[in-house]
Amino acid sequence: MHHVDFLVIGSGIAGLSFALKAAKHGKVMIITKANEDESNTKYAQGGVAVVVDKSDSFEKHIADTLLAGDGLCDELVVENVVREGPLRIQEIIDYGTHFDKTTSGMYDLAKEGGHSEHRVLHHKDITGFEIERALLSNVHGNPNIEILTHYFAIDLITQHHLGAFVDKSTPDITCYGVYALNTVDNRVEKVLSKMTVMASGGAGHIYSSTTNPVIATGDGIAMVYRAKGKVRNMEFIQFHPTALYNPGEYPAFLISEAVRGFGGVLKRRDGTPFMEGYDARASLAPRDIVARAIDSEMKKSGDDFVFLDITHRSKEEILKHFPNIYAKCLSIGIDMSRDYIPVTPAAHYLCGGIMVDECGRSTIQHLYACGECASTGLHGANRLASNSLLEATVFAHRIYTDAVERIGQMALPPDIPDWDDSDTVLSNEDILVTHNLRETQKVMSDYVGIVRSDFRLERAMRRLGLLYDETESFYKNTKLSVKLCELRNVIQVSYLVIKAAMARKESRGLHYTTDYPQRSELRTDTIF
Ligand code: FAD
Ligand code: SIN
Repeated sequence: MHHVDFLVIGSGIAGLSFALKAAKHGKVMIITKANEDESNTKYAQGGVAVVVDKSDSFEKHIADTLLAGDGLCDELVVENVVREGPLRIQEIIDYGTHFDKTTSGMYDLAKEGGHSEHRVLHHKDITGFEIERALLSNVHGNPNIEILTHYFAIDLITQHHLGAFVDKSTPDITCYGVYALNTVDNRVEKVLSKMTVMASGGAGHIYSSTTNPVIATGDGIAMVYRAKGKVRNMEFIQFHPTALYNPGEYPAFLISEAVRGFGGVLKRRDGTPFMEGYDARASLAPRDIVARAIDSEMKKSGDDFVFLDITHRSKEEILKHFPNIYAKCLSIGIDMSRDYIPVTPAAHYLCGGIMVDECGRSTIQHLYACGECASTGLHGANRLASNSLLEATVFAHRIYTDAVERIGQMALPPDIPDWDDSDTVLSNEDILVTHNLRETQKVMSDYVGIVRSDFRLERAMRRLGLLYDETESFYKNTKLSVKLCELRNVIQVSYLVIKAAMARKESRGLHYTTDYPQRSELRTDTIF
């Protein structure tokens, strides 16, 4: 058993940023299910959107975020994140993150889709890797932070585990920590905490094609929903328009939007640009618009990809800004300074998630959510590029200030039981788990993608029902494994995405349905 002041689930930018601050006030334990740096954060390419240049303004960044969000952002949250952003990013710099500068010593600001200004701080095309490196190096030197790798959080501990009846209407569901599977010796351990921060990232792996690393299985969202916490706007799945088309590669490699910000143009096979026909901002329109346009072009051409052309920039410039992308493309025979890059949309980012307030509090007492697993209201129906890393730092700080004030109020109840798996047996059919995962991902990709319809959603829900029943029965009778827990979470999150998509009878931002192609006058959040 472990007993800490602050428990953090996840070691991406959200979890690490919070941990470094909370460690000034108590013992922090970070549990993370893979190697300490494995996270969506590590793969972030484009950078962090933040107002640092004199020609830019908070008002412009706010307006761009609201426009991309298609009428569903929480305006106060947008204001807070944009205005507090520069301070929080300065802290990331103070931790030792290097953002690229020009020869005149100014930050080299990139541009991405939906941004009216150059405002994206970056470290070449591996910004996330650099941020993760800097944050972890600070965590390592901190005596108040313990990081347990290869620990998989299974479920939140609440009064349900003390025998109380808990449902959605229970007013004071309280989190006392988590049960976690120590995957090295395969034992479930109890981790008790006064304050818990869910920072478990996204859920790209509910789809068969995604830019996310394999850790992104929506675990935190599924855990909170099972514990009867609220989740919001799960239908808004962002498909990144330009993943590298390289059949067989899983996850998909991203071709950063910054390549389009650097002049890259989306083209058909015959070399004609097509984005002008869809939006005046052409290849730099917000992602929902570009992804739908590519989807439509692929349907017309019958191809599985379109092309991105950056050949008008010199090899030197490309190598300076995009060394990682250049090397990757070259490794499969594409020299992006001479050849078009074949690209295709892939699931990239979850705009909805665990519902939190402006302090990052979830609807479960003493449980916060931060980063991609949270729904703060910043992104609305479509996230503006590079606003995610920013959001994580701003909310990590807000959670920190709130949590340190409230930690004294929390007393853990005695006699929290250990995990009981006495009626389960070891599985000798793990391959069934793999099959069910692939089937779920295929159902989501086939029927719950960029363009939806009632018919497709109903079909997806029916098929998911069968997969759910099989998996639950397997779960109840079998000793736990990470794969089985992840499958369960993937099914749970897929269910929430389909259910939310069915409930939204309009097209808005990332949710486009042929049955209700117009945006409604009414602004509604989908809350379960
Ligand atoms: P993550 O960084 O994903 O961290 C989640 C952590 O939780 C991981 O350590 C994981 O192992 C752990 N975890 C998950 N489940 C469990 C469990 N059950 N038990 C224990 N641990 C668990 N955003 C931008 O703003 N700018 C960009 O340029 C950008 N580029 C991107 C490029 C790619 C390829 C991808 C995939 C995303 C990109 N994003 C970008 C999005 C951004 O990287 C993520 O939204 C952000 O990093 C999420 O941070 P996080 O801390 O919330 O989650
Ligand atoms: C990219 O570099 O295109 C990803 C940016 C983001 O997802 O915010």
